[in-house]
Amino acid sequence: MVFEDLHEYLDFLGKNKDLVRIEDSVDPDLELTYLLSEEERVGKGRALLFQNVEGSEIPCVGNLFSTGEKMNAVLGGDAIEVGRRMKNLVRVPDNTESMISRGMEMLKELGGIRPKVSGSFGSSHHTLEKVDLDRYPIPRTWPMDAGRYITMPLVITRDPVTGQKNMGMYRMQVLDSETTGMHWQIHKGGAGHAAESRGRKEPMDVAVVLGSDPLSIFSSVAPLPDGIDEFSFRGLLAKKRFDLVRGDTVDLEYPKNSEIVLEGYVDPQETRMEGPFGDHTGYYSLEEEFPVFHIRKIIEKKNPIYPTTIVGKLWHEDVVMGKAIERIFLPLIQLQIPEVVDINTMEESVFHNMVVVSIKKRYPGQAKKVMFALWGLGQLMFSKIIVVVDDNIDIHDRKQVIWALSTRIDPQRDVFVVPGTVTDSLDHPSMLFNYGSKLGIDATRKGESEGYNRKWPDVLEMDDEVRKTVADKGKKLGLW
Ligand SMILES: Cc1cc2nc3c(=O)[nH]c(=O)nc-3n(C[C@H](O)[C@H](O)[C@H](O)COP(=O)(O)O)c2cc1C
Repeated sequence: MVFEDLHEYLDFLGKNKDLVRIEDSVDPDLELTYLLSEEERVGKGRALLFQNVEGSEIPCVGNLFSTGEKMNAVLGGDAIEVGRRMKNLVRVPDNTESMISRGMEMLKELGGIRPKVSGSFGSSHHTLEKVDLDRYPIPRTWPMDAGRYITMPLVITRDPVTGQKNMGMYRMQVLDSETTGMHWQIHKGGAGHAAESRGRKEPMDVAVVLGSDPLSIFSSVAPLPDGIDEFSFRGLLAKKRFDLVRGDTVDLEYPKNSEIVLEGYVDPQETRMEGPFGDHTGYYSLEEEFPVFHIRKIIEKKNPIYPTTIVGKLWHEDVVMGKAIERIFLPLIQLQIPEVVDINTMEESVFHNMVVVSIKKRYPGQAKKVMFALWGLGQLMFSKIIVVVDDNIDIHDRKQVIWALSTRIDPQRDVFVVPGTVTDSLDHPSMLFNYGSKLGIDATRKGESEGYNRKWPDVLEMDDEVRKTVADKGKKLGLW
């Protein structure tokens, strides 16, 4: 099932007892987001719809993606299956396959890829008389945050040279009722478009959507390769063309199912201090210079709902989204680096900070080859530590990973540092902002071809026959 808009998704969650409607008054300053946080920490993770947020007439919803069940409902199935579909899409047909049936399959799969664009919303939406962000229940999340932040915006831009569209989720600090910060980090799509706009006389048009169907929200977070825009990706996932509307004061399109649209601009020459902000890493990101978003116009659906999210510690919903992304993109990684068997971007390491990969190793130096390939692949460029193990290690079992790490490396030979590299903007310990180093750990079995002249020890394994006999005997003896 593809949810047509946020309201339909909330109805679905309500029917599944996965949504709590809260009618009591709630303070948007720290209290609202901490309620969301605690709901997740205690393991319930229901979506909470706050219908009476102090200072606002508009309801606020959070925890939209907070459990694996919700994520699967949004994707219309398991993330692994979605990944297999993606891999099948780019597969070259083998010569046993009929070209006609492959063509038909592709047509069916690609049917949704081109969005449908129409001129206006019609009567479903209206323009506000005055730009006024203060009407929204925008929370402040952590005590030392610099202010209120829009945390789940879909930020839409267009490359002024190629016309390529982008939709990314970048937090926006409220500066006043008409202006916000725009925290697109330097490596991200929106920042790339702004860089292309520099030197042009006109500021760059930006549209921001607050609230859309959950698949569009998820698509804005997906680390897509350059050249694939999020609307097409959303259509691909949904197998259905997505309805967009042309902007009024911006040369951009945005989802017809938007709850709230902010049309405005970013002047690529203008920056202001942004932050601190309690971030995905569990620390406050420091103040840094970031661009500024000026709002020209606000368009609202009738009875809009404002979505929010909280990031900060391990149990928040960015973990659920991150895991879905890992599973969806694994088959595509395997297409480019075929020896990769599995990948674990670990939530304890805030995903990309430490990535464990298992490979089917065939030749000397292959673990390093995989590391460098991953560091060159999209947002995996942010992985600070990459650990490569053989495919007989279950990398989702932390005990096995630590065992392999401690028993299969000689530090002098197998641990290396790459200086002068890209770092994630959220990498707090790097010496410079956005610039630092990488650590590679090759925990694969070494052979003579890699200069290892001793005999590599065999791993303890019981014979199959004894295993079976003992299992039967254990049952007979009433042991297990
Ligand atoms: C809740 C949440 C908040 C995020 N905030 C930011 C942010 O403030 N700045 C940023 O650059 N990326 C942020 N991201 C990550 C981007 O959305 C993600 O890297 C996305 O793939 C960027 O898309 P792009 O490559 O099209 O720019 C956030 C992700 C999530 C889930």
